[in-house]
Amino acid sequence: MQYREFGHSGIKLSRIGLGCFSMSGAYGAADDAESIATIHQAMERGVNLLDTSARYGGGHNHRLIGEAIKGRRDKVFIHSKTGTIRDDNDRSVAAGSGTPDRLREICELSLKNLGIDYLDAMCQSRVDPTIPIEESVGAVSRLVEEGKVRFIGLSEAAPNTVRGAAKAHPIVSLQFEYSLWTRDVEDGHRDTCDDLGMALMAYAPLGYGFLAGVVDKAGSQSGDDIRGKFPRFFEENFDANRQRVKQLEAFAVDKGVTAAQIAIAWVLAQNDNVFPIPGCKSRKHLDENLDAVDVDLTPDDLVRLDEMFPKDVAAGTRYPPGGMQRVNL
Ligand SMILES: NC(=O)c1ccc[n+]([C@@H]2O[C@H](COP(=O)([O-])OP(=O)(O)OC[C@H]3O[C@@H](n4cnc5c(N)ncnc54)[C@H](OP(=O)(O)O)[C@@H]3O)[C@@H](O)[C@H]2O)c1
Repeated sequence: MQYREFGHSGIKLSRIGLGCFSMSGAYGAADDAESIATIHQAMERGVNLLDTSARYGGGHNHRLIGEAIKGRRDKVFIHSKTGTIRDDNDRSVAAGSGTPDRLREICELSLKNLGIDYLDAMCQSRVDPTIPIEESVGAVSRLVEEGKVRFIGLSEAAPNTVRGAAKAHPIVSLQFEYSLWTRDVEDGHRDTCDDLGMALMAYAPLGYGFLAGVVDKAGSQSGDDIRGKFPRFFEENFDANRQRVKQLEAFAVDKGVTAAQIAIAWVLAQNDNVFPIPGCKSRKHLDENLDAVDVDLTPDDLVRLDEMFPKDVAAGTRYPPGGMQRVNL
């Protein structure tokens, strides 16, 4: 494993972190025993960055991680998001997610479910457009003063929002979707992270599995798989996206690796302060993903990948219309 300082934290974290979302049923059923074995194997292979959220599985994800890290809390950096408030149809509600009261409440609940006494990083999942960011970050900074949180992160925040937030309290990282088919962070977010000495956590580096080649049919997601709601997986966009991934698969075969490994290696190659957090719930996928740290992409390889996946090439938006209103605020 390779390590880099995580933003300005002074702490060296593994270049590849482990995203734990799918361990709580995001993409269909998960098996707790295998999920815990996957977290253990990740730690044994040197991963010390776990990403989670208070909302994943309604607290299940935190309880699962709490179980997995018993007796080894000091070996991992837990980056925990707040989740957002949801309506009756499980849609993210804009207002109220970033109020000081809610942030405190979520922090307490997260600590309880994880069974720990501090979060390494607490991250607001989405910017609350009804509350000035300085107020939300100010509320989390009080949790820092109380020793319940070590560092403050943001997710899906626009560059100006990040800069405003950083005036209230140093921000250690920005988490944003970043992959071959989602390159929005090249519109100033990556530079802002550089300028402010922040880490950029690349979430969904495998395009929710699409770039790993495991999704080969439109509409193949089961009812409880959230990808069924993502436009890029819809019938009308599927073939165009799949054609690109076929090129990626052929490229990977030529390199003697897998498409998933190329997708992760490409993110790693974008900048030294980028930490991809591929998600998986099995040791098999984990091993494959961690081996990506040794995949060497030459300048020619990067040009070819750029040609295969120019910016904004994906057919369909990354979230449905309601979700798109909640990102990059
Ligand atoms: N801030 C945010 O709004 C936000 C949003 C989404 C996610 N995240 C975070 O980012 C993490 C990563 O994103 P993600 O999990 O949503 O998407 P992802 O990492 O792009 O893809 C995960 C999907 O790819 C599959 N997969 C993983 N490794 C594979 C391999 N080597 N070969 C074939 N398939 C493979 C997984 O299957 P298995 O699970 O079966 O292994 C899962 O279905 C999440 O776990 C979460 O912590 C943050």
